[in-house]
Amino acid sequence: MDIIFNRRSVRKYTEQKIEPEKIDRMLRAAMQAPSAGNQQPWEFIVIDDKETLVKLADFSRYAKMLPGAALGIVVLERQTLKYPPLVEQDLGACVQNLMLQATEDGLGTVWLGISRGDEREAFVAEMFNLPESVRPYGVVSIGYPEDENANHFVDRYDETRVHYNKY
Ligand SMILES: Cc1cc2nc3c(=O)[nH]c(=O)nc-3n(C[C@H](O)[C@H](O)[C@H](O)COP(=O)(O)O)c2cc1C
Repeated sequence: MDIIFNRRSVRKYTEQKIEPEKIDRMLRAAMQAPSAGNQQPWEFIVIDDKETLVKLADFSRYAKMLPGAALGIVVLERQTLKYPPLVEQDLGACVQNLMLQATEDGLGTVWLGISRGDEREAFVAEMFNLPESVRPYGVVSIGYPEDENANHFVDRYDETRVHYNKY
């Protein structure tokens, strides 16, 4: 499980393309996530076209690494009638799975957040002409890290955050 500890947000990439089998593994890992009632509220837009990545980078001022990425994956939230209030949690697990599989395969990733109802959501929805039934949940920027030590351990363990039996 070293990948959990070594994964870092990676924002600088080489030009190297990502092998189709690695893309496939990321998507399989993402769809393997747990979800409330097994509702699986996810869909994905995989972007390997430079022009589209450049355009997508404008969705947020914090997404300027996208034109340098080999791949962007827009994670979409699909409307579900099962447990709508739990969808955000399902998708968090989904994105984390995707990023950890990427780390395992030697890739660097960064999660680019979209808040419900904000202008980033509107930008991405319009750019991809999304139907009403899906909304963009987030974007993952992916590439081979420029710095080979980009994924490295940072210790975040804080014992004051842990409570046993009572708060
Ligand atoms: C929901 C969410 C949204 C984020 N949005 C951005 C973003 O828009 N741009 C960015 O560069 N990093 C973004 N990040 C990455 C965080 O800055 C990063 O995970 C955090 O600083 C911890 O660093 P680490 O990922 O290297 O452990 C986001 C992370 C999460 C979980």
